[in-house]
Amino acid sequence: MDLQPATRLVPNLLINVDHVATLRNARRAAAPDPVEAAFRAEAAGADGVVVHLREDRRHITERDARLLAGTVRGKFDFECSTDDEVIGICCDLAPDLATLVPERREEVTTEGGLDVRSGAERLRSAADQLHDAGVGEVAFFVDPAREQVEAAAEAGADAIELHTGDFANASGRDAERNTLDRLTDAAATAEAAGLRVHAGHGLDYRNTRRFLDAAAPPVEEVSIGFAVVARAAMVGFEDAVREMTRLVEG
Ligand code: PXP
Repeated sequence: MDLQPATRLVPNLLINVDHVATLRNARRAAAPDPVEAAFRAEAAGADGVVVHLREDRRHITERDARLLAGTVRGKFDFECSTDDEVIGICCDLAPDLATLVPERREEVTTEGGLDVRSGAERLRSAADQLHDAGVGEVAFFVDPAREQVEAAAEAGADAIELHTGDFANASGRDAERNTLDRLTDAAATAEAAGLRVHAGHGLDYRNTRRFLDAAAPPVEEVSIGFAVVARAAMVGFEDAVREMTRLVEG
């Protein structure tokens, strides 16, 4: 009889604090401060913190990103587009992880993955600059499609972040199964190409466990923002993060 406990990979939980800044900026005030939220998130068990410095600075500002780069003790994930100015800031901050995302000014949130195939040259050049500046890991945010994952490996990514938005929005069991099959296929393609697998977008207290249970090969990292910030408004930041930590740990 095998008495060894089965080893199960518990993914890192990175908390995105963009929407703490959204709330602060709604009143052009000083609070709530995403730097304080990040501190509380880590104290409550998060493995790291994510911010997206958008070209239009609608939530996170350069001041926030610089303070966080100096204070986050776990993994610091700086999300950005390939815009020259933000890539320059990212190179200067040299975070543990840079996640490259597409960006359109009129979107409410990031609405889809990168088209790595058509943007390969620009993405490769950004990844090269980031690696040269000492950024530990460069991830491309992609839809769960085999060709995008393969293109990410060819363009110099170390990791992909799989877009879980379609899974989160799927209604009905069959639709959800279909999105999970696509995520699984993309994760397997990434693993075969030597890429690490992260995931995020739309994950919440209802769907995160279902996603992680179905993820095979398992994802190494999840990035969760809106659901945690929304829950924090009700129960406080630490409790909201603790609840999510427990879910991710299973
Ligand atoms: N991953 C990426 C690349 C994102 O752009 C976002 C949204 O900012 C997230 C994860 C987090 O998504 P959500 O706020 O829906 O949890």
